[in-house]
Formats: sequence, structure tokens, C-alpha cells
Amino acid sequence: MRLERGVRDTHIQRELRTHGRKNGFVTKGQQARLQRWLPEIGLTKEDRLNVTDGTPWVVEIGFGNGDFLVHMAERHPDWHLLGIEIYLPGVAKAVSRLEAAGVIDRCRISQLPAQYVFEHQIAPDSLAGVVINHPDPWPKARHHKRRLIQPSFARLLTSRLKVGGFLHLASDKPDLAEWMRDILDQTEGLTNEGGDDGFVPRSDDRPLTKFEQRGRREGRQSLFLQYRRGA
Ligand SMILES: C[S@@+](CC[C@H](N)C(=O)[O-])C[C@H]1O[C@@H](n2cnc3c(N)ncnc32)[C@H](O)[C@@H]1O
Repeated sequence: MRLERGVRDTHIQRELRTHGRKNGFVTKGQQARLQRWLPEIGLTKEDRLNVTDGTPWVVEIGFGNGDFLVHMAERHPDWHLLGIEIYLPGVAKAVSRLEAAGVIDRCRISQLPAQYVFEHQIAPDSLAGVVINHPDPWPKARHHKRRLIQPSFARLLTSRLKVGGFLHLASDKPDLAEWMRDILDQTEGLTNEGGDDGFVPRSDDRPLTKFEQRGRREGRQSLFLQYRRGA
């Protein structure tokens, strides 16, 4: 089924929407989990992420259906996670999976654009890490300005990491992977932990996310980037 209009109207904050898919299919159960959990763990436009108690907070931007978010929550019981995803049916699926995995009490969810969340809702020097897996490629040159990684967003993102915090990225599109590497390599305060070409090998521990799987089906291997914020 499609998400019901009332559910969308309640949760989509249209004035902040960026480009991207807006609706898609969910099960009745997933819609019910969305309605159950968003009022409790959703970060609204006015909220701030509270990271004052020394807990490591890791953010995933564009978590899709939640493949990697659930994996991180299970793999790192000490982490608290903020997942940011503008595609509401994806949020519904992820929330259902986080609940089923018994990890949802350590998670917050935002369905606002990451640019807004990082600028207004996350304090400087506060995050243990940020993960971005397979961001939208926007392949046409005239759409490159829509790509998530831009010099200004890279600076903003770096400022929200603690010293020693990590930034991990993946893309199955070589052109986008190089675009992200070239911008992030030039971003003050970030150190690339990759080899001569700037990339790191795929970690065996990673789950295959939906878009890594899709890339493989179409004959592409994802490329991986790893950065750390210096002093
Ligand atoms: C290509 S999908 C990748 C999904 C998942 N990370 C994976 O690897 O399968 C990119 C996701 O980023 C989300 N997205 C795009 N722009 C965003 C933004 N500005 N803030 C948050 N999420 C965004 C899209 O809705 C989409 O679900």
C-alpha cells in the first residue's frame, strides 16, 4: 500500500524538502510502526540532538531502508544513532526493523534534509562518526549541484565531528566516488585514511545495502572512503 495521505501530511515537512522520491509502498504494519515510533524518536524541525552525556553518537545520512543503520545498532551496543532519511516509506521500513531488532531505544530518526539537520540540530564537535552509503549520484552535469557532498556541506559536516571522529562513505558510481574524495581531501580538518588512490578496501563486516546490491547486479563494485577529523 501507499503511505496514507494523513500520515504523509503529518510527517513530511514540505517546506524543507529537497529533490528525491516522495512516495512508495509500505505494508500496513510498517505504516503503523511509523505512527507508533516517530512521535517518540523522531527529531522534529525544532529539536536539537542531545549529546551532552558523553554517549557516542553516530549519524547515517540517507539510510534508505535501514540496512546499515540496523547493522550498526546491532554491532555497536554502546553507540546511539541518528538516522536521517527524506524518503518516508524508507523511514517506515527502517523503524520497523529497528524495533524488531530490539535496538530502537538507542535511535533517533529525522526525515528532514541532512543539510538542515547538520546546520541547525547538531552541535559543533559532538559526533563520534558519520556514515553516508551510496548517496544519490545525480549523473547529469547540470544536476551536480544537487549532490550531497559539496565543499560547504563537507566543512559543515567536519565541524560537527569530534576530534578523532570518523566519516565513512561508499558509492558504486566511480565518478561520484572520485567527486566526494576530491572535495573531502580538500576539506580542512579531515584526513584521508585510504591508500594511494584515496580509497579503502571493503570491510568484510559490512552488510550489502540495497544500493550496493543493485550496483553489483549491474556489474559495479562499490568504492569506500574513510576520513578522520584531526585536531
Ligand atoms: C541511493 S539511496 C541509498 C540508500 C542506502 N544508503 C543504500 O546504500 O542502499 C540514497 C538515499 O539518500 C536519501 N537522501 C537523498 N538526499 C538526502 C538528504 N539531503 N538528506 C537525507 N537523505 C537524503 C534518499 O532518499 C535515498 O534514500
